[in-house]
Amino acid sequence: MEQYAIKGGNPLVGDVEIGGAKNAALPILAASAMTDETVYIENMPDVRDTKVLLDAMQSIGVMIKSTGRHSVILNAGNINSLTVDSEGIKKIRASYYLLGALLGKYKHAEVALPGGCDIGCRAIDQHIKGFRALGADVSIRHGLIRATAERLTGSHIYMDVVSVGATINVMMAAAMAEGMTIIENAAKEPHVVDLANFLNSMGANIKGAGTDVIRIKGVSRLHGTEYTIIPDQIEAGTFMFAAAVTKGDVTVKNVIPKHLESITAKLREIGCEVEEADDCIRVVASKPLRHTQVKTLPYPGFPTDMQPQITVALAMSRGTSIVTESIFENRFKYVDELTRMGANIKVEGNTAIIDGVEKYTGASISAPDLRAGAALVIAALAAEGDTIMDAIKYIERGYEDFHVKLQGLGAQIEVVQTEKDFQKFKLKTG
Ligand code: EPZ
Repeated sequence: MEQYAIKGGNPLVGDVEIGGAKNAALPILAASAMTDETVYIENMPDVRDTKVLLDAMQSIGVMIKSTGRHSVILNAGNINSLTVDSEGIKKIRASYYLLGALLGKYKHAEVALPGGCDIGCRAIDQHIKGFRALGADVSIRHGLIRATAERLTGSHIYMDVVSVGATINVMMAAAMAEGMTIIENAAKEPHVVDLANFLNSMGANIKGAGTDVIRIKGVSRLHGTEYTIIPDQIEAGTFMFAAAVTKGDVTVKNVIPKHLESITAKLREIGCEVEEADDCIRVVASKPLRHTQVKTLPYPGFPTDMQPQITVALAMSRGTSIVTESIFENRFKYVDELTRMGANIKVEGNTAIIDGVEKYTGASISAPDLRAGAALVIAALAAEGDTIMDAIKYIERGYEDFHVKLQGLGAQIEVVQTEKDFQKFKLKTG
């Protein structure tokens, strides 16, 4: 079993190149199945979730050709099944994007119920409500969601909660429905906008993505396109917080600073210097970090996917901080692991009350999910001594070459397989 061996104590220093956004790539890949023509995608992150989705698409007859580590060509002209039930697909959340994409184009789809990170109840009622409003019949049977319609017709849909997944799914299905669909209370995340831009580049007619109200005028066919995925906001934010926690000086390159505003604001509030340029951001942490309060919110609020990373920073800051998680109800599971490293955090419901400590100490820990796993790595990089971390497969779901990029910033981190490897790592790193 692969583990990370980490020796803490080195400030991270240098430049790191940020890859394409996982949460934009997933719906964009699914939406590529909405045309019979060829689609070229650039800046694809090479992470496990995108691989699983590509495998699932291949299993229903989508032709997929990789033309480099970060570029792929897809052609869905010869799809031979509208049922997606491969073993891997059950493990990822984004499986349900094939539902919206296939329903939009073929008016029928059956997809295994989605999995994904265990961060709380992840309802799909808004997806179902949206598909039904467009005229689809939706049922769940034998672990599959089935959506089918003779024809899809545009509708006025009010989302009861702001949901990235439901906004994206309904947008895809509505792109090929007859007439106008209006989604109210839509999610505004950069990846929602990226998908709308991608669909528009295929001939869709979507306006308002990035605001609360998205208007979609259905078209009867979509054509091939060439498209470059936006940079990953959360990967960038993770490295920015890694700089803060390790008292380092890191420049994240190939980013869109606008997408990182809530993260930049919090870093400044806790005492970091943040310099923005056109497509890069430098974070310097030369002073002790200060406490603050933060509540996760849909974009443009502070992202839930950055909640563990900011908690790791605040737990090593002066004073008492409060972190409120308002999106997922079970996203503090990593606090037990952080406590092993010396953090002083009390979780009450969806709130963490954090009394900052001077330092972390290395420990034997486990990554409970993708973002929490990355956050614990950051804690280990700042800790005194060695850490061994299990379940790093979660981190590989969404971070490409995480440990390699960290090594490039001076981190002492390696993938090890056995206790003997860990002992060797300890000897080597002193
Ligand atoms: C997406 O999940 C991301 N996943 C998550 O990233 C991210 O944490 C989340 O959006 C919020 O930004 C992907 O893009 C693949 P939601 P999603 O629908 O779409 C409730 C990561 O680490 N809800 O916006 O599943 C839901 O329970 C992952 O990269 C309903 O009630 O999130 C939650 O409380 C983890 N009914 C809230 O809305 C629904 O039908 C937001 O969920 C749908 C959602």
